[in-house]
Amino acid sequence: MYESAMVSRKDLLDRNGREEALEEAGYNVFGLSASEVYVDLLTDSGTGTMSTEQWAALFGGDESYAGSESFERLVSTVDAVLGFEHVVPAHQGRGAEHLLYGALIDEGDIILSNTHFDTTRAHVVEAGGEPVDRPVPEAWMSDQPGDFKGNLDVERARKYAKSVGPEHIPVVIMTVTNNSAAGQPVSVENVRQARELADDLDARLVIDACRFAENAWFVSQREEEFADSPIPEIVREQLSYADAIVVSGKKDGLVNMGGFVAVASDESDLFERLKQRAILYEGFYTYGGMAGRDLAAMAVGLREAIEREYLDARIGQVHELASALADNGVPVYQPAGGHAVYVDAGDALPHIPAERFPGQALVCAAYREGGVRTVELGSFAFPETERPELVRLAVPRRRYHREHIEHVAETFGRVVENADDWSGLEVVDEPERKELRHFSATLRPVDV
Ligand code: F0G
Repeated sequence: MYESAMVSRKDLLDRNGREEALEEAGYNVFGLSASEVYVDLLTDSGTGTMSTEQWAALFGGDESYAGSESFERLVSTVDAVLGFEHVVPAHQGRGAEHLLYGALIDEGDIILSNTHFDTTRAHVVEAGGEPVDRPVPEAWMSDQPGDFKGNLDVERARKYAKSVGPEHIPVVIMTVTNNSAAGQPVSVENVRQARELADDLDARLVIDACRFAENAWFVSQREEEFADSPIPEIVREQLSYADAIVVSGKKDGLVNMGGFVAVASDESDLFERLKQRAILYEGFYTYGGMAGRDLAAMAVGLREAIEREYLDARIGQVHELASALADNGVPVYQPAGGHAVYVDAGDALPHIPAERFPGQALVCAAYREGGVRTVELGSFAFPETERPELVRLAVPRRRYHREHIEHVAETFGRVVENADDWSGLEVVDEPERKELRHFSATLRPVDV
């Protein structure tokens, strides 16, 4: 259990104010000001509450340009918690992705994954590669039970690799938990199989370990081999198969900013290349775009994230939200993920066809109805990929209380009850890079 160590006041804008704010934002909730949002479930990234121990660590931050004590503390923590001693900090996860994927991927390469997250996909494309997803088929079945719906479909991946030629695939990426596939967990067994696949292809295995602790919690609950294993042991076992990991500290690092890439001890050449890229893009390789105090707070956060009591409360709250939504008639992806609940907008607003973005329509409706900000992860965010029309309700860590959960469930309940009131949308303006369009494109309502 937690008690608040600091609070901030929030007011609900009236309905007219919300309507105006949404129009002003071009029906894209990324354009809203936070003061216009009542409960913010846009992301679980960097939006959590730090502990008093983390705040205390901030004050002890060492701001030396090179070789700071805070950096050394981070390295020893990453080694102890995640099992990697070669660490290059970066300002956040995508900074780490830029360092790593820029070093590993060349023009024309194909990258296989259980599912690329949007920034991962964009970095693969930026480096000249082609991202290819091979999740297990049940990943996209929102009412199908399953313990590890985030897994890679190893057989399909293997077949695909054979068809294009293994020499074109230098990297296999496993995202745990699988954010773009409804935050579903990945089993340790599946990572072992991905390792075998990577070995057969003579490729590297990278784990996107942003949510390594939440994934380990699911493994402890659902994978028989690990039923009696402590969380820290599961974390190290799962990550031990990777040649490199990328981590956004904004998730299971329990901080508001930061990240790192870490490589296995037999990857010293890669480590050197990453350090050089860090100097060019992030800052000297012992701070990588982070203040010393932020490195120190992340070191504390990484240890807090693997406490079972914390994980029980954290994922318990996400699952409470899923039940409350389902009780209010909202079609919720089953089972709920680790950091978020995903609502199937195709079911919630069945009168809106895919080309009119039912997911984005649901996001706008929830904001108008109750000031709740969520994010679309369907055909608006991922154009030209086959996926259900999901809306993600990401729960920030250690921030919200039961009242917030109830407000969200009631808001969505009302939206779904009056589904016919909501219209679809069309894109007015979008950036050149379509993989990232949901951050900044603008839309307008259209009748369906
Ligand atoms: N990988 C995964 C699986 C992520 O979920 C994210 C970020 C990143 C990499 C990039 O990390 O934001 O620190 O640069 N996900 C956030 C989200 C933005 O809302 O899911 P970052």
